[in-house]
Amino acid sequence: MIYLDHAATTPMLPEALAAMTEELGQLGNPSSLHNAGRRARRVVEESREQIAEVFGARPSEVIFTSGGTEADNLAVKGLYWARRAAAAGRSGAGRSGAGRSGARPSAAAPRRVLATAVEHHAVLDSVHWLAGHEDAEEHWLPVDETGVLHPAALAEAIGDDPDGVALVTVMWANNEVGAIQPIIALAALAREHGIPFHTDAVQAAGQLPIGFAASGADAMTITGHKFGGPVGAGALLLARGVQPVPVLHGGGQESEVRSGTLDAPAIRAFAVAAAVMAGRRDEEAARLGKLRDDLIAQVLAAVPDAILNGPPAGSGRLPGNAHFSFPGCEGDALLMLLDAKCIACSTGSACTAGVAQPSHVLLAMGADEARSRGSLRFSLGHTSTQDDVDALGAAIGEAVQRARRAAR
Ligand SMILES: Cc1ncc(COP(=O)(O)O)c(C=O)c1O
Repeated sequence: MIYLDHAATTPMLPEALAAMTEELGQLGNPSSLHNAGRRARRVVEESREQIAEVFGARPSEVIFTSGGTEADNLAVKGLYWARRAAAAGRSGAGRSGAGRSGARPSAAAPRRVLATAVEHHAVLDSVHWLAGHEDAEEHWLPVDETGVLHPAALAEAIGDDPDGVALVTVMWANNEVGAIQPIIALAALAREHGIPFHTDAVQAAGQLPIGFAASGADAMTITGHKFGGPVGAGALLLARGVQPVPVLHGGGQESEVRSGTLDAPAIRAFAVAAAVMAGRRDEEAARLGKLRDDLIAQVLAAVPDAILNGPPAGSGRLPGNAHFSFPGCEGDALLMLLDAKCIACSTGSACTAGVAQPSHVLLAMGADEARSRGSLRFSLGHTSTQDDVDALGAAIGEAVQRARRAAR
């Protein structure tokens, strides 16, 4: 199979697979006090240290979760609730100090949640849920035609009422078109106004040098299966003093912020994958960037009217991402034609009850519905080779012609 869907999930690294397999044979709940439990606890704590080191955080700032979706839900809902509580003079949220215990209660409680319109559904739907079930007001930040949010647009949205903003959440890099956001500038802006800032770094974590402390964010989401760890292990990094209200209640295993028995085998494999990935990230990013540029050149040579979506190849884009619209095609028909030739890729857009939905990301970038529906993402990862790219280059022209005939 030619696998060009690494942004959906990438194969486990052999080192992570070996560590997980070994750990699955071990017994012990990391919360148990006996010897077996203490051994499992050591595995978890060593993994926490490794994750912290890779992502520029303190070990105490790592909260293990079941992955990116859970971490995003905890960040968005938990920080919103904490900020509301802080405004009422109870507890706190925010690296900036805004809303910590003893903060002045605000007459108008912060209700606005600012998020880009191109967030992953784990963030998008959490914000939407807060607006539908709580007192929140959702505010979708605009992106330009390449998918980038400019700090001026965030400044404008904050306006002259920063106390009314409960949370800003902006993804580090987009999962569909690979656009990299100016996170440090955006986090600094939120901080200047005392507003908690969360970033979903799920797609960025395996491809860009990510420093949590250096980013200035209050909270950051990562997940293992995008860089060679197992599905089902991720983390929310939380700056010291940032205390979201829990979403999952129970044993309070993770600093009372997240409950649930810790999955020592998956956590160990997540940490091993992070350490291996970090050791070769720059070299791998350069290799993937070259492959990606060649993929773009081959697709455009075979289908001259294809449109490359997102930032230009050279800058501002994840090295493993290429995303095109193919005018006159339905993306899912094209995907199935490529699948028949054993080439796996993604439309990136959601499917509701079997009906293809146009990508909310492309719509937010100003594309019309037809262009949004006729798009495909090709994403590269650690097992990608020149042969994969050449196979796509050889197949895409004919597949597009057939998809166009089918759409007529
Ligand atoms: C940007 C982004 N955020 C969150 C997630 C969800 O992560 P998980 O699959 O670990 O729940 C994904 C997964 O595709 C993603 O791409």
